[in-house]
Amino acid sequence: MKRLAVIGPGKVGRTLARLFHVAGVFEIGALLARKDETPGDAAAFIGAGEPGGSLAHADIILIAVPDPVMETVIAGLAGERLKSGVIIAHTSGALGPELFAPLARKDVHTGCAHPVKAFSDPERSVATYAGTMTTLQGDAPARSELAKAFQAIGGQTLDLPDGIDRTLYHAAIVFMANHLPALVQAGLETFAHAGISRADGLAITGPILHDTLEAVLEKGPAAALTGPVARGDAATVARHLEKLNAADPDLAVLYAALARATADLSAEKGEASAEGLLAIGEMTQPEHD
Ligand SMILES: NC(=O)c1ccc[n+]([C@@H]2O[C@H](COP(=O)([O-])OP(=O)(O)OC[C@H]3O[C@@H](n4cnc5c(N)ncnc54)[C@H](OP(=O)(O)O)[C@@H]3O)[C@@H](O)[C@H]2O)c1
Repeated sequence: MKRLAVIGPGKVGRTLARLFHVAGVFEIGALLARKDETPGDAAAFIGAGEPGGSLAHADIILIAVPDPVMETVIAGLAGERLKSGVIIAHTSGALGPELFAPLARKDVHTGCAHPVKAFSDPERSVATYAGTMTTLQGDAPARSELAKAFQAIGGQTLDLPDGIDRTLYHAAIVFMANHLPALVQAGLETFAHAGISRADGLAITGPILHDTLEAVLEKGPAAALTGPVARGDAATVARHLEKLNAADPDLAVLYAALARATADLSAEKGEASAEGLLAIGEMTQPEHD
């Protein structure tokens, strides 16, 4: 069995290592971190591994350190004794394959393996990993080995084209996956201003949120659009904005920005009245002095 070393066995590193260990995909070797206690804690969680072991025996080195130190940690491997043909991968979303430039002259294969999942609690992440998409970049041997490994633990993989803008790639994921909770929170605050409890707010909108998300994923955002903006109902949107502004101007600003985006999407769809959309666009423009 091939041997996996993990540099940075934090939330992502230890979750993946445990999944690889339990599925018998890799033997777990060196676990390296910054604090003395981290590799031992990680080994206990994984159920295997060698805290502080050597990288020289690893067939795969997974680097899951925080983004700000990723470049330095990878560059540091240029001075390490490594196995010939070793595969070195990092798990960052925002950083790309360019970080491997310092290793270009070594006999190594390199790749990016970004699991598109929120790893907040390792125990929960292990239990909910199945179906997670991991995007891959890098040379062909690295992508092929990583695809096999991530699929063997129940995940999906997708090769990303060379030369994509990783910052915008990452921003797109943040837009959809991380801003959704913020959007739901804004809705719950609006419910609170209306006199409706958080529990009732979630009960009221739970079914429509599920249904809308399913429709968006199935038919695309424009086809899934409903509501006053989509209907070009400028009078209703104006009343929403007036009340929101009185309750909490920050909520009004967020609503207005999203209403503009929704109006643009409706215009693309071509169903709402042109005058209604024009009026919504005008009333949600930010005011300039
Ligand atoms: N969290 C997510 O939802 C998520 C999702 C996808 C991808 N990612 C990416 O995965 C990577 C790791 O994220 P994470 O959330 O797992 O971070 P994390 O929980 O903070 O874990 C980072 C690990 O790196 C170690 N470390 C820190 N500085 C180090 C250094 N200079 N040398 C060696 N080890 C060092 C830490 O050890 P100590 O305990 O000793 O400090 C810790 O074990 C990042 O690139 C992140 O962008 C994260």
